[in-house]
Amino acid sequence: MTVNYSAFLYLISAVFFILSLRGLSSPKTAIKGNVFGIAGMIIAVCATLFSPVVSSYSFIIAAIAIGAVIGLIIAKRIAMTALPQLVAAFHSLVGLAAVFVAWASFLSPSTYGIGSSGAIAVSSLIEMALGVAIGALTFSGSVVAFAKLQGLLSGKPLRFKGQSILNIALCIVLIILIAHFTKTQSGISFFIVTLLSFALGFLLILPVGGADMPVVISMLNSYSGWAAAGIGFTLKNSLLVITGALVGSSGAILSYIMCKAMNRSIFNVLFAGLKQNQVDHETQNEEKPAHIGSAEDAAVLLKNARKVIIVPGYGMAVAQSQFGLEEMATLLKKDGIDVKYAIHPVAGRMPGHMNVLLAEAKIPYEDVFELEDINSAFTETDVVYVIGANDVTNPLAKTDPSSPIFGMPVLDVEKAHHVIIVKRSLKGTGYSGIDNPVFYAQNTMMLLGDAKKVTEEINHYLKE
Ligand code: TAP
Repeated sequence: MTVNYSAFLYLISAVFFILSLRGLSSPKTAIKGNVFGIAGMIIAVCATLFSPVVSSYSFIIAAIAIGAVIGLIIAKRIAMTALPQLVAAFHSLVGLAAVFVAWASFLSPSTYGIGSSGAIAVSSLIEMALGVAIGALTFSGSVVAFAKLQGLLSGKPLRFKGQSILNIALCIVLIILIAHFTKTQSGISFFIVTLLSFALGFLLILPVGGADMPVVISMLNSYSGWAAAGIGFTLKNSLLVITGALVGSSGAILSYIMCKAMNRSIFNVLFAGLKQNQVDHETQNEEKPAHIGSAEDAAVLLKNARKVIIVPGYGMAVAQSQFGLEEMATLLKKDGIDVKYAIHPVAGRMPGHMNVLLAEAKIPYEDVFELEDINSAFTETDVVYVIGANDVTNPLAKTDPSSPIFGMPVLDVEKAHHVIIVKRSLKGTGYSGIDNPVFYAQNTMMLLGDAKKVTEEINHYLKE
């Protein structure tokens, strides 16, 4: 296959990737988006395999086979709730790949066609320095994000004195070293740039608090895209540059959208955890009076309602109670009750988490509403059924400036006539580790138990 032919195929697969991103932007078209993505990737891999620069296939085939087996095993075993940490782990590998490619091209520039007799062009040195810095930072930052989401590290901001000054100093040293490297091609500078970038990734993500992790993940997603684009420049591979830029920009846009949803700036998300005067909001779990009800009580309330809004959260994903929820909604609708679903942009543990689960249970898209479209409807709602959601309904986000989630828009569930909250215990706090005053409100009934079991019990009474 000629170089021109490969370039043409790369262009076609880039178009498929763009169509894929477009499809993935809505649950309705997500399957189509995935199909476009797969098609684009098949074309890209084939074009690469048959391009004239490939001289031997043994390593490539071995790598594809090993990768495919690992991918298959992970895809079969992974729980829906563990996807965010899996994404973080994958980002770390993209970052590491960028570091390896940058080092390989530094050590053997002639193999990559970026310099003869050891001298490398300045433009390539800049690409390599940026690639290694972004790649190393993505790797270590993603490892920390993985450890936090997997529960290996505390979800709380991890801080120490002088952290912000150290970060700023590291950034300045890094810039100076990159400039020195591009001028002198010094191996020592390149090595220190790599080490400092690894350290910076750890230090930047450690102080980020639990509730801000979604933004960090999509930001790391963006970094991994830019790192891939950097590799693309070094390898002179136009498709890698295009796909890297697509991932980089879509990750950056997603971070922006999430920051907007939380009423925060990206700067605030990254550096708020460094403020030493932040109050530690880990709940004390002190005993407070709450109205504990039964599944039968809930069924009576629901049956007598005219308008019901269901608010799903992370607990619904853990319990896999979306199917019971669909049955409940169908039973209520049969009685002429208006049932809607309210989805918070960061409910669950990954963007679109709730939408995916509701779609899995074949809940109609037209019943599902985003926060800004439904928040004003709570005042006129008879019953809100909050299932495994905590932070996304916490009114402290509106009233307590010292709360770690202050400023995040939340679903105004407390404004409904009755609130039913399903969770396993009164002590179990949400992701940000803070108590929710709605649990103890006059118009709230707590249903303590596993979300799936409780919903099925309610359905049993609804059928009677
Ligand atoms: P959370 O605030 O984490 O609350 C989940 C609640 O579900 C907990 O209070 C827990 O209480 C309950 N629960 C857990 N397992 C359950 C089960 N089997 N049955 C019934 N209840 C169960 O969830 P949320 O309201 O969805 O908020 C999401 C939070 O995660 C936000 O702070 C968000 O910033 C963060 N986050 C979001 C993302 C994305 S992109 N969506 C990614 C990472 C982090 P019990 O233990 O008492 O049952």
